[in-house]
Amino acid sequence: MVASDDSLGSTAGVEIMRAGGNAVDAAVATAFALAVTYQEAGNLGGGGYMVIRMADGRTDAIDFREMAPGKATRDMYLDAQGNKTDKSLDGHLASGVPGSVAGLTTVLAKYGTLPLSTVMQPAIRLAAEGFTASENFVHSVRVDSARIAQFPVAASVFLPNGRVPAVGSRLTQPWLARSLRLIAEQGADAFYKGEIADSLVAEMQRGGGIISKEDLASYRPIWRTPVRGSYRGYPFITMPPSSSGGTIVAEVLNILETYDSLPPIATAEYAHILGAVLQRAFIDRNAKMGDPAFVRVPVDTLTDKAYARKLRATIDPVRHTPTPAVAQRMREGTETTHFSVVDPHGNAVAMTTTTNGLYGSGVLVRGAGFFMNNEMDDLAVKPGEPNQFGLVEGEQNAVAPGKRPLSAMSPTIVLDPSGQLLLVLGARGGPRIITSTAQVIINVIDHRMSIADAMAAPRLHHQALPDTLRMEPRGLDASVIEVLTLRGHAVGGISNVGLVNAIMRVRGGYEAVGEPRRPGGIVGY
Ligand code: DON
Repeated sequence: MVASDDSLGSTAGVEIMRAGGNAVDAAVATAFALAVTYQEAGNLGGGGYMVIRMADGRTDAIDFREMAPGKATRDMYLDAQGNKTDKSLDGHLASGVPGSVAGLTTVLAKYGTLPLSTVMQPAIRLAAEGFTASENFVHSVRVDSARIAQFPVAASVFLPNGRVPAVGSRLTQPWLARSLRLIAEQGADAFYKGEIADSLVAEMQRGGGIISKEDLASYRPIWRTPVRGSYRGYPFITMPPSSSGGTIVAEVLNILETYDSLPPIATAEYAHILGAVLQRAFIDRNAKMGDPAFVRVPVDTLTDKAYARKLRATIDPVRHTPTPAVAQRMREGTETTHFSVVDPHGNAVAMTTTTNGLYGSGVLVRGAGFFMNNEMDDLAVKPGEPNQFGLVEGEQNAVAPGKRPLSAMSPTIVLDPSGQLLLVLGARGGPRIITSTAQVIINVIDHRMSIADAMAAPRLHHQALPDTLRMEPRGLDASVIEVLTLRGHAVGGISNVGLVNAIMRVRGGYEAVGEPRRPGGIVGY
């Protein structure tokens, strides 16, 4: 089964499993296919994270996050007055060195069973022969069309004749097909040292970007030991830094576990506890986390149950504790993509990948056909000031050459108390990735929901700053909001929580549920 944001991507994974591939082969096939059919987030020019659990019990995690180029400097995104510019979000300077191609090929070599050229076939076919533009695809291009139009190379592919492609029309991408063929034939070297590297660096030079040949040649994905935890007897593995995601999901679950049981969902008591827990975990995230190659990240403490009890002691049962205030600004999108894969043997993969913003930096590499990321904005381009997600981080995440920007991506695998695979999940949506992933787990384990109900239940979000408890429409009754307000919470609405794709083992098999808030693509066989 593959649960992804796009049915063509999921189909590619299933095609590879039908051809005898395992979940890792399928995940790599899906990732490359999403780089063709779902370029708003699927990518060659971005990065991501994968958490793996093989049926024999082996577990692993790989970090293929982008890295700041060698010529990056701390204040490169500030103007002469020291104010933030949009250069970390739009255009050639916004990109970190991409990690996806290195990550996917490395993971395939270790855990896959099929050759790279085989698992890339569906993606190559979708790029060379084209795919039929779905409503979802057309909607995505339309939403970002004004921005794409500012980048002529991107517009030449995605706005043919200056227009948003029509639903049902066919989109072929010959440049991208060529890049994919080169990778299939030559491996990651084609991207990091060969012809694609040449195109990428030439593109950077045309637009004032700073990614160099040396940056590309020296990029390496990193195998990491997954963060391990347990929630009410259910073991889980999740992503360690350079993402904050798994560590903070674990911290949230640990604090919640100090409550013998949770109040019913949609009550003021429940929202108060969950909000307070999320708030505390995000305070840690924002102050204490960064790329472990640059700063010491206290993962052991943050995921420690004794530490969770200390934080629990700071939660007043009735009153809200304010987060110290700072300037607040937010421009939120949901442009990452998460997918979950389980094969017939029970091997499982949770993968989240992104170029950060919708269509990344807007820069499409001429001749190579893929969008570059704008992941540099996930560094604290001005420590102490909020980024596009309103996250306020400190020096530990400041811009420095070779640094991986702190992420929120949280690919996670949960087992049942007997040690069998239970849940494979993760999300898109910046900081809301963490809160949405945690809530689906809580809904299954505490609220005993089916996976379909766990996904559909209204979600709330708190990220410490802004200091607002945010709830989806229809999530809380007006009287409940009144009670929360009396307790000192600022209660706000949220229309774009994280978007989850999950697979759960049920009696007799697996159930995959795509995010009910968005069209997606669940394919099984
Ligand atoms: O790594 C991160 O946490 C972000 N770059 C993810 C971006 C994302 O989910 C886009 N949507 N809001």
